[in-house]
Amino acid sequence: ASTLGASAAQTGRYFGAAIPASKLGDATFSRILTTEFNSVTPENEMKWDATEPSQNNFNYTNGDRILNQGISMGAKVRGHALLWYQQEPGWAQSMSGSALRSAMMNHVTKVATHYKGKIYAWDVVNEAFADGGSGARRDSNLQRTGNDWIEAAFKAARAADPNAKLCYNDYNTDGVNAKSTGVYNMVKDFKARGVPIDCVGFQSHLGTSIPGDYQSNLKRFADLGVDVQITELDVAQGGNQANIYSTVTKACLAVSRCTGITVWGIRDSDSWRTGENPLLFDNSGNKKAAYTAVLNALNSG
Ligand code: G3I
Repeated sequence: ASTLGASAAQTGRYFGAAIPASKLGDATFSRILTTEFNSVTPENEMKWDATEPSQNNFNYTNGDRILNQGISMGAKVRGHALLWYQQEPGWAQSMSGSALRSAMMNHVTKVATHYKGKIYAWDVVNEAFADGGSGARRDSNLQRTGNDWIEAAFKAARAADPNAKLCYNDYNTDGVNAKSTGVYNMVKDFKARGVPIDCVGFQSHLGTSIPGDYQSNLKRFADLGVDVQITELDVAQGGNQANIYSTVTKACLAVSRCTGITVWGIRDSDSWRTGENPLLFDNSGNKKAAYTAVLNALNSG
């Protein structure tokens, strides 16, 4: 097939992009979005600071714009993200303990209920593990409400929207390392105890190399009985950019429970990684070598 989305669909997968509501009126952006992608993720619009600017007062205006864009394209919508230590609204940043725990669970329940039946997969919890060699949880006001905050969030999300796949999402978990093994052990424990978790997102914000065990890392998670998804892919521009994109795509295709890939933006100029040119389309919206590498990989699957 001749587009990313249609090519991914040949093997039952999706190919998505993170999109900001502010770019939906940009003609070039919108043409590429509607032609190439069959999944969307709101880049910021469904995060806590955007959806609950003051406690228990919800604003879904921009989140709904992304949702409706996805619906109009017949695309899957990934919800991102119910709980994250960054982009907490100011009122939550200054909370702790049982008051914060109640506020967190209210947030999960209300937002997941608003989008009930419309979200393919939710990043229920984002980036809760520490960097480095500890394999431990990241310290945050969320974590300090008690180590069970993650499972409590997954249970609340399941109760609110039983049809959404519920994911844990993180970065620097793209190969076998202490951080990814910490996540692996949590998922294994959740599956053993019946905590509802359906998928793990691997952000895959990559530099000029990719871990040699990228595919086997995806596979070890899939073998726990969860789907895996590449959720925020971007790759520093260097000699290997197209190759790395191709390697990621082939790794997903090789793991039957890898259900899709999302790139974190469309054109280089849309990226959060200013100056790194990490995406599939250049600033003018032209296809890069990395685009062709991904398309070819999708069609070789
Ligand atoms: O909307 C305001 C605007 O009104 C204001 O004038 C401007 C000035 O700073 O800021 C704008 O908000 C910015 C927002 O992006 C929208 O552009 C925030 O400051 C900025 O912090 C925010 O950055 C986002 C970042 O998450 C926040 O940590 C990036 O767009 C977004 O791409 C990035 O995405 C994250 C994923 O959610 C999780 N994984 C890592 C990934 C990359 O950091």
